[in-house]
Amino acid sequence: MEPMNTRVLVTGGAGFIGSAMVRSLVGQSGVEVCNFDNLSYSGNLNNIESVANRSNYRFVHGDVRDLDQLRAVFADFSPEIVFHLAAESHVDRSLHAPLSFVESNVLGTANMLEAARDWLEANSVNREDFRFVHVSTDEVFGSASGDELFREDTPYRPNSPYSASKAGADHLVLAWATSFGLPALVTNSSNNYGPHQFPEKLIPLMIISCLEGGRLPVYGEGENVRDWLYVEDNVAALWEIALHGNIGETYLIGGGEQRRNLEVVESVCDLVAELSGGENARERICFVADRPGHDFRNAIDYSKIERELSWKPRESFDSGLRKTVEWYLQNRKWVDAVRDGSYRDWLELNYGQR
Ligand code: TYD
Repeated sequence: MEPMNTRVLVTGGAGFIGSAMVRSLVGQSGVEVCNFDNLSYSGNLNNIESVANRSNYRFVHGDVRDLDQLRAVFADFSPEIVFHLAAESHVDRSLHAPLSFVESNVLGTANMLEAARDWLEANSVNREDFRFVHVSTDEVFGSASGDELFREDTPYRPNSPYSASKAGADHLVLAWATSFGLPALVTNSSNNYGPHQFPEKLIPLMIISCLEGGRLPVYGEGENVRDWLYVEDNVAALWEIALHGNIGETYLIGGGEQRRNLEVVESVCDLVAELSGGENARERICFVADRPGHDFRNAIDYSKIERELSWKPRESFDSGLRKTVEWYLQNRKWVDAVRDGSYRDWLELNYGQR
C-alpha cells in the first residue's frame, strides 16, 4: 500500500496521541483525514486548530459507543486506513469509574470492528486495500519482572481496570482478524509524552504544578519505572505499521528510555526552572499513598519493528522532555482552556486543594 490519495479515519483524533496523528497526516500530501471524536473531557478541538481549515481534513462529532454513528462514518468516508485511538486512558480514573472504561474501550472497539467488517463486506472491499490499526498500551503486559522487556509474545497480565479494558480490546481485534479475516493489526506502546497531553498524566501534571506553585505528588517512593516515548515517534511508527505491517500481528513501540518516576519529576523541575527562569520546584515534591495495583515497571523491546519496518525512536528522553516543557511554557492559553470545571473537580478529589 502506498500513501497516495489515502483516506484515513482516526478515532480519538482530538485527544493527545490522536491529535498528533491527525496533525501529521493532514500535513502529508495525498492523505485525506476524517477525525471521529466525542470531545470528552480530554479531547479538545484546540489540539487540531492548526489543521481545522485544511481541505483534506474533516471532523465528525461522534462516539465509538454508538454503532450507528460508526456505520454512518464508514459509509460516508470509505476509509482505507483506520487508526483506532478513541479510548479512556487514565489509570487513576479507571479506579474510580471502571465501567466507563469497559464501555469506551471494550464495547467501543467491538463496535469499530463490527462497523469495519460490515462495511468491507457490503462494499466487497479487497482485504489488501484496507487496514485497521488498533492503538493500545504496554500496560496490558502488567509489571515487568527483573530486567524483563515486553515483547510481542509476552503473556497478557493487566492489573488495572484501564489496562484490562485495553487487553480485552486487543483480544477482540486479533479475534476479528482470525475469525473474520479483518485486515487488522495491534500496536502496544510505552508511555507517550509531548505537547498537548492532558494534564492528568505525570509529565504535564508536574510541569503545570511547577509553574503554578502546587504540590508535586509522587506515588509511593517514586521508584516505579516507565519507558518514555515521544508522541511523534509513536505517530511515525503507527504510520509505518499501517503501510507495511503484517495483518493479524502485534507490534510493540517503545522509547528505549526507562526512567524512575522520581527522576522524571526532578528533571521536569530542573527544566521548568531553567527555561522559565523561575524557582526550582523540587522542594514541593511530596510522596503520597501509592496507586492500588500500580505496575512497578513497564518497558519494551522494540526490536521487531526496528528489524521489520526500520523504525526506531528519534527523540531521546532529554531532547523530548525539553521540547515538551518548552511547548507548555509557550502555550499557557491551551492549559487554561483545558482546565474546565471537571478537571478541577478531579484534582480536588484526588489531591486536595492545590
Ligand atoms: P501516568 O502518567 O498516569 O501513566 P501510566 O499510569 O499509564 O503509566 O503515570 C506515570 C507514572 O507516574 C506511574 O507510575 C504513576 C506515576 N504518577 C505519580 O507518581 N504521580 C502522579 O500524580 C501521576 C499522575 C502519576
